[in-house]
Amino acid sequence: MNEPTWSAVDAYIGDKLLGDDPALSAALAYNREQELPPIDVSPAQGKMLFLLAQMAGARHILEIGTLGGYSTIWLARALPDDGRVVTLEIDQRHADVARTNLEQAGLADKVDIRVGDAHDSLAAMVGEPPFDFVFIDADKQGNAAYVDAAIRLGRRGATIVVDNVVREGGILDPASDDPRIEGTRALFDMLAGDPRIDATAVQTVGVKKWDGFLLARLC
Ligand code: SAH
Ligand code: DHB
Ligand code: MG
Repeated sequence: MNEPTWSAVDAYIGDKLLGDDPALSAALAYNREQELPPIDVSPAQGKMLFLLAQMAGARHILEIGTLGGYSTIWLARALPDDGRVVTLEIDQRHADVARTNLEQAGLADKVDIRVGDAHDSLAAMVGEPPFDFVFIDADKQGNAAYVDAAIRLGRRGATIVVDNVVREGGILDPASDDPRIEGTRALFDMLAGDPRIDATAVQTVGVKKWDGFLLARLC
């Protein structure tokens, strides 16, 4: 047997545990057609988000970074009938693609896409019912501010998941001038010893190479 690859193992996991999913495949095909960057979560990661949101009993979910709505579809599917996802996206074109994908998946009535810089959209969220689950996957420079907003907007015990916190080990470089690395290091610095939140990070490999998720619970 040839050396198994991370992608081959993801294909095996997909074959055994995920199966065919026409709505998700159609969303990825439309993203490609519209030339969105292929940086959605992987199928196995999307199902992980779906399961985590269900395990948390989430009824009100916040997503920061919509792209074409691939992860949004997984999150919206985890909701009960009266549940809602609010998803924040800076790029009008991405939001338009996401709206089409969510309509095609029959989930448009569960999702509120807010177009604009997430910093502004978050600042405008006052009097919003508290969120049970927050998925952060936008510009990595914003990570510390986004988690700070999630702490303000989440209920006690809320789940927070942040994508791309390892970047092939890039986060170990304190001299990095990559703003994405600096942004994620600022997040770890903020969370170290922060009494408002209990956090870990788990490294992942697969079709998205070597990366990881930060997982946290609001105290
Ligand atoms: N969660 C998506 C992938 C998101 S990619 C999925 O897994 O399917 C990151 C997205 O964040 C891009 O669409 C990008 O336009 C958006 N983004 C970048 N900076 C942003 C900002 N300041 N505010 C809101 N969205 C932003
Ligand atoms: C990339 C991957 C991501 O999950 C993301 O949110 C942004 C960029 C990347 O592979 O470049
Ligand atoms: Mg990501």
